[in-house]
Amino acid sequence: MLQMQDLTKSYGDVVALDGCTFAVGPGQMLGFLGPNGSGKTTTMRAVFGLIRLDRGAVTLNGNPISPNDRLAFGYMPEQRGLYPKMKAGDQLAYLGALHGMEQAEARRAGLQLLDELGLADRAEDPVEELSFGNQQRVQLAAALVHDPSVLVLDEPFNGLDPIGAETMANVLRQRAQNGATVIFSSHQLDMVEDLCEEVAVINAGRIVMEGNVRDLKAASPHRVIEFESSNGYAAVLDQLDGVITTSFDGHRHTVIVPAELDVRQVLNRADSDSGIQHISYSTPSLSQLFKEAVA
Ligand SMILES: Nc1ncnc2c1ncn2[C@@H]1O[C@H](COP(=O)(O)OP(=O)(O)OP(=O)(O)O)[C@@H](O)[C@H]1O
Ligand SMILES: [Mg+2]
Repeated sequence: MLQMQDLTKSYGDVVALDGCTFAVGPGQMLGFLGPNGSGKTTTMRAVFGLIRLDRGAVTLNGNPISPNDRLAFGYMPEQRGLYPKMKAGDQLAYLGALHGMEQAEARRAGLQLLDELGLADRAEDPVEELSFGNQQRVQLAAALVHDPSVLVLDEPFNGLDPIGAETMANVLRQRAQNGATVIFSSHQLDMVEDLCEEVAVINAGRIVMEGNVRDLKAASPHRVIEFESSNGYAAVLDQLDGVITTSFDGHRHTVIVPAELDVRQVLNRADSDSGIQHISYSTPSLSQLFKEAVA
């Protein structure tokens, strides 16, 4: 179990971490969410001993993390750190060796990863000649080459096309299924909702929401009715007491109601109203929970 316990860090007057506490276990893939400047990168840097905390500690199975432990960790930093002039394949072999692998084994693992990530034909190209998204993929390969037991990725989906994002998601899912502990930060909440069972949301250096996504959604005091309508908007709403907010994006109406509100009659009536299409009643999305948690 990788445990962040009371992580606290200030830079002058700026409080970057303010008692940040959460944990992630083997086989788990945790989405680490938070607004810009909320402390995600600082937390990840703390895992690798790259900052001196004012208080608190990161532990692995209850023990302080040693440099030796970190050899079995993989990190994809926010500031990507590849050697621009080195060939992608050489780079992975080199980084694998730094993590204690045999040179030949590291090269084999690196080439296999490039293949998995759709870059088999780019192994002989210097990294600087690859596009931004393909450099991202090599950066992921660099974090994975030594088959880490703990994987920490700072916005790995940034700049990837939809196919690259799916490839990345599959690779991470596979690693977690094989027992790795995976944490990644992201601002793409719909993707996180699809990919992660667990999330932690940080705001101003503190965890404000944490747990199983399905449980968090079910525990929300709110439910969401969404529909498109050519005429019957007000007619439906007039029959609902206790509406919290309504909004309209030009196509779709979104109505937030208390979870305990019995909406069956209204939904049934709306269903037979020819003006209304695609009406749905559901728990809030992760994106909606996030906005409430950091409001
Ligand atoms: N080296 C530093 N010197 C001064 N302030 C810093 C330093 N590193 C981080 N901070 C401050 O700490 C806070 C948290 O920053 P951090 O980079 O952890 O945020 P983040 O959640 O990763 O944001 P983003 O989503 O934009 O990547 C910010 O206010 C930031 O300005
Ligand atoms: Mg960051």
